Amino acid sequence: MYKGSIYIETFGCQMNTADTERAATGLRAAGYQLTQQAEDADVVLFNTCSVRARAEQKVFTRIGEVRRGAKEPLIGVMGCVAQLEGETIFAQAPSVRLLVGTRATDRLPTLIEQARAGARRVIDLGERQAGEEWAVSPAERRSKHVAFVPIIEGCNKFCTYCIVPYSRGRERSRPAVEIVAEIERLRELGYSEVHLIGQNVNSYRPKTESGLEGHTGATPFARLLRAVAATGIPRIKYTTSFPRDFHTDIVQAMDEHENLCNWIHLPVQSGSDRVLRSMRRGYKVSDYLARVEAIRGAKRRYALTSDIIIGFPGETRKEFKDTMRLVEQCQFDSLYIFKYSKRRGTPAAKLADIVSDNEMAARFVELEALQKEIQAQIFSAYVGQTVSVLVAGESTRSTVDVTGHTTCNKVVNFPGDVSLIGRIAPIRVTGAKAHSLYGERCEI
Ligand code: SAH
Ligand code: SF4
Ligand code: F3S
Repeated sequence: MYKGSIYIETFGCQMNTADTERAATGLRAAGYQLTQQAEDADVVLFNTCSVRARAEQKVFTRIGEVRRGAKEPLIGVMGCVAQLEGETIFAQAPSVRLLVGTRATDRLPTLIEQARAGARRVIDLGERQAGEEWAVSPAERRSKHVAFVPIIEGCNKFCTYCIVPYSRGRERSRPAVEIVAEIERLRELGYSEVHLIGQNVNSYRPKTESGLEGHTGATPFARLLRAVAATGIPRIKYTTSFPRDFHTDIVQAMDEHENLCNWIHLPVQSGSDRVLRSMRRGYKVSDYLARVEAIRGAKRRYALTSDIIIGFPGETRKEFKDTMRLVEQCQFDSLYIFKYSKRRGTPAAKLADIVSDNEMAARFVELEALQKEIQAQIFSAYVGQTVSVLVAGESTRSTVDVTGHTTCNKVVNFPGDVSLIGRIAPIRVTGAKAHSLYGERCEI
């Protein structure tokens, strides 16, 4: 029975994208139609992110915009902001009538029903319940060629600056047998690439061995990688890895299987041991460098990317310079640089010695310039090489180009038409820009 139309807007990380796909699966099964336009929807849901202050503010702006539209939809907030802020959202944005926490996604149809039946305020910030599934219908996936597959959710690390352990709860790993079955299904459906996702994928620790039997490795994650590689799906990527848990057996598994893609995202956060300790990251600069050395010593060249937080409370100029030095040493293929953002309720929020906005901006510019230089060298070394590109769509910049990703997760644009979408094409790189490569089709 048709119940109405729903629009979901997604902020934040890949876990939120995966949750939106999962929410859409349940809602369609319950009789709702998903729409791409907020203006004509009966229900508008915001799947929110709280990792930095700016991400959180964005949702309140959007709520205001939707409320001013011609139609007055039922407005709901789901995701990390809902989980963390709870009822205070009702006070801050009175047009919101529905709050759905990060583990309540599967109960959305019932909760919406309650709100539409007249309940003024509906709120569910509870835990997942037995029997609820991770299943996502292929119809709700954002792409027909690249699929996100959650393998672990939550986080037990409690880095002192980070809100995620509070918004996502404790780590829960999905049984390997279920992950492998989903990837086999995706392969049959014609998917070329899967991304195993989680706040820390390499902390993967399922309750059962099921699905890992016969796959070697010192850690469950390395065994899972081998099990997933055995499905034969052409490309497997995974993100994010936690440095402390990045054991060498992961690199060994990747070296053995061509379909485990040559890209590793390993966020280091800082190049100063004192700052890392204050962040409670659980490793030292030397530990991180040992991981990088193992990666560099591998059989293939792995693209390495990272995240850095600048201006953590108490970070001195000298400590910032230590980060600059580490970035120089590691030669990252790309780097996400974040200005420290104070999150209420985290231990770092109580720290003194706040870095001034001016100093923060100066450090950002300095680190960005260094990375730009490093990246230009790495990218220009690709010129003349042939890379394999999974074509995702038309280029947004040019009407004659299409765009896609390499196995090392670099964006490549090249002349081509929409008939190539979903295909894996060999591309000879002819030019390098700051954040992408340019090339032409070639036969091999
Ligand atoms: N689990 C991953 C990261 C998840 S959050 C890890 O531990 O590496 C993604 C990135 O957001 C982090 O790597 C960090 O660089 C950044 N981040 C998280 N909290 C932040 C904060 N309070 N201020 C600024 N950046 C933050
Ligand atoms: Fe946040 Fe640290 Fe967990 Fe990453 S490992 S999600 S930075 S608490
Ligand atoms: Fe944001 Fe929540 Fe992801 S805070 S980064 S959406 S886990």
